[in-house]
Amino acid sequence: MGTTEIVNELYDRYYIHDSTPEDVISSHWKHYQSQVKVRISEGNIESLVGSAFGDLEQRAITNRMLSWLTIGSYWLRLPRKKEILQLIKSSIDLTKRMGLPFTYDCFRQVCSLVRVNQYITEKNLDANPNVIIIGDGYGFLASLIKEIYPGSTILLVDLGRILLFQAYYCGKAHPHRSHFLMKGIEEFDQKDSSHDFVYCPAEHLRFAKNQSFDLAINIASMQEMNQQSILGYFSFLREHLNPDNLFYCCNREEKTMPGGEISRFLEYPWREKDVHLVDEYCHWYRYFLSLHRTQNGPKILNSRIPLVNYFDGLIRHRLTVLETTDDCNIGEE
Ligand SMILES: C[S@@+](CC[C@H](N)C(=O)[O-])C[C@H]1O[C@@H](n2cnc3c(N)ncnc32)[C@H](O)[C@@H]1O
Repeated sequence: MGTTEIVNELYDRYYIHDSTPEDVISSHWKHYQSQVKVRISEGNIESLVGSAFGDLEQRAITNRMLSWLTIGSYWLRLPRKKEILQLIKSSIDLTKRMGLPFTYDCFRQVCSLVRVNQYITEKNLDANPNVIIIGDGYGFLASLIKEIYPGSTILLVDLGRILLFQAYYCGKAHPHRSHFLMKGIEEFDQKDSSHDFVYCPAEHLRFAKNQSFDLAINIASMQEMNQQSILGYFSFLREHLNPDNLFYCCNREEKTMPGGEISRFLEYPWREKDVHLVDEYCHWYRYFLSLHRTQNGPKILNSRIPLVNYFDGLIRHRLTVLETTDDCNIGEE
């Protein structure tokens, strides 16, 4: 299936007929989904404007300059400078193919991948990793993973309306790869397929029964989900990750959504037997430069430093070997 057909199918299902079940959308996304503007007429995209899932559509020259200043200020203080630079270079080529600018949002995902890469290599997962990404926004990270691990299979799970952006941009990044949309009626069997990108609307994840993954990634996404979705994803991962897995989770320590529900990183259903290889505040996700002033920012002599903004809360990340259902069964024998 080509990505044009996938985009059209997702448009029909999630924009013409709003078929996202209520239980997978948090109040945050109920609020922001309406700002996403997609219009397709007779198969042609007339408008594709995202909102609230990243800065990749910011093209104004001032935004781009501030984005590069933000990137430079982090890069100077981060370890693994050479690896980060190498990945930035590949990402710039990639974003050009996607028709998007390389921004700070891309940079923080590059840094996350550099951090995870070290462990992917250690565990010898680099040849053909099976990857699941939950909430990939524009599909930048999936496209980048495919770029550096060409043998990978990547399942992208997201709300149907936003998944359309992932199908569109991953299609532009990797037009000659195989792209597949899970429709929910049939069970998708990874063993029978040779798809590079599999798009899964959140409510259909249960149909991905026969899949097993080496690596799961969730960046800035669980922080905007309701409790039920977070529990659902953790139990899916525990059932479908291989025992020698990696789960990278980078989210706000605490976030209150418009409907009042609170998502707390440390209250996700972690288990004692999960092994955290990395567990700290995220060094490349603390502040950003922008003309738009957020509530908090660094101060000198009680005055805010111009242009420098903190995020609305601290961001933690963990790279974890999750205890899987198989591990539990072995423990019980
Ligand atoms: C703030 S964006 C983050 C995008 C990207 N990961 C990044 O770091 O820039 C949050 C992402 O989570 C997705 N999301 C929200 N609710 C979800 C759900 N129940 N299941 C899967 N993805 C969800 C959004 O559609 C969006 O792609």
